[in-house]
Amino acid sequence: MLQPLLLQPLTIKGVTLKNRVAVSPMCQYSAIEGVAQDWHLVHLGRFALGGAGLVFVEATAVEARGRISPTDMGLWNEEQARALARIADFLKANGAAAGIQLAHAGRKGSTHRPWDGGGPLAEADAVSGAAPWQTVGPSALPFADGYPAPHAMSAADIGEVIVAFREATKRALTCGFDVVEVHAAHGYLLHEFLSPLSNHRTDAYGGDREGRMRFPLEVVETVRAVWPQDKPLFVRVSSVDFDEGGLTIEDTVAFAKALKARGVDLVDCSAGGNTATAPRVAPGYQVPYAAAVRKQAAVATGAVGLILSAEQAEQILKDGAADLVLLARKALDDPNFALHAVEALTGEFDYAFAPPPAKSGLDRLAGPLRRLRAAQ
Ligand SMILES: Cc1cc2nc3c(=O)[nH]c(=O)nc-3n(C[C@H](O)[C@H](O)[C@H](O)COP(=O)(O)O)c2cc1C
Repeated sequence: MLQPLLLQPLTIKGVTLKNRVAVSPMCQYSAIEGVAQDWHLVHLGRFALGGAGLVFVEATAVEARGRISPTDMGLWNEEQARALARIADFLKANGAAAGIQLAHAGRKGSTHRPWDGGGPLAEADAVSGAAPWQTVGPSALPFADGYPAPHAMSAADIGEVIVAFREATKRALTCGFDVVEVHAAHGYLLHEFLSPLSNHRTDAYGGDREGRMRFPLEVVETVRAVWPQDKPLFVRVSSVDFDEGGLTIEDTVAFAKALKARGVDLVDCSAGGNTATAPRVAPGYQVPYAAAVRKQAAVATGAVGLILSAEQAEQILKDGAADLVLLARKALDDPNFALHAVEALTGEFDYAFAPPPAKSGLDRLAGPLRRLRAAQ
């Protein structure tokens, strides 16, 4: 029997993932001054114990004003780097490749964490240590009603953010990460430049598609220049805006071609987030974007969005829609998704993806499970 694609290794540049299950970045809003806590080690560590091939650390701000909330992860200083190195070490020691998503929230920064209601911070929040800050964006257009207008970035501001991405990438390397993903999706700063809905600039960083792509591409070029050539670089995109006049899949295919030309190894195809418009969600609702980008830009893609079963994940790979499957919510529901995928796709009780201490115990479950099945 042929081994299912989902369970096969995937080599990208100098990194080999032991399978094609990746855990998508997920903000935990639980860092202190941008520093990862025990929470993050346990949250991410359980996916390594659960056999995932690649585990991404959440959107990690490259500078303080690039956080979504005051409790976002950051990588603009050495203390933050030390805490993240511990996580990267743990993931790798337990068989998962370690990824980190580098991000800047742009006009969607300076907000409450979701369980405190989300929405913009107000001056009154300063009393509880969560003072609002001036956000930045391509144009002085607020994200939605009730959000303050960002400061429209000058050329000097753009240069500063590019330097922040460069320095964070260098730190990600010293932390020992295997994969860097640049966050250019979900209405955050890079997506804001890409989308005509949020970018009304009239200088070289706005206007036509080429102008709107300029800043994100400069970020990617800078990151690629300091991220070793044998290490994979991913970019997450919002393949489409869900509003009239927003990004289309044609824009994203053009962007993906430009990314590929600059040494990006995989385009992680998400969607939406630049306005309050929500997508119509169904299993695999974003997979067609990954398929279109893969086919039309001839670049490796990641598929994400309500991928709920091993069979569904396998079908995405078999259809040639993507090279890698990313899970967020389902991974929270089943951190052992990759271990369970083996039985789902092969019928075997085989815990080879688990690190030795977990495998040793699970192997003692495999025997009785096989005998019970044989007796049925
Ligand atoms: C709790 C949570 C936090 C998230 N944080 C991030 C993030 O840091 N960066 C990002 O690109 N996407 C983030 N997302 C989006 C997911 O990575 C993923 O793209 C989305 O949830 C769709 O996949 P799913 O249906 O498997 O959850 C987050 C999603 C959830 C549920």
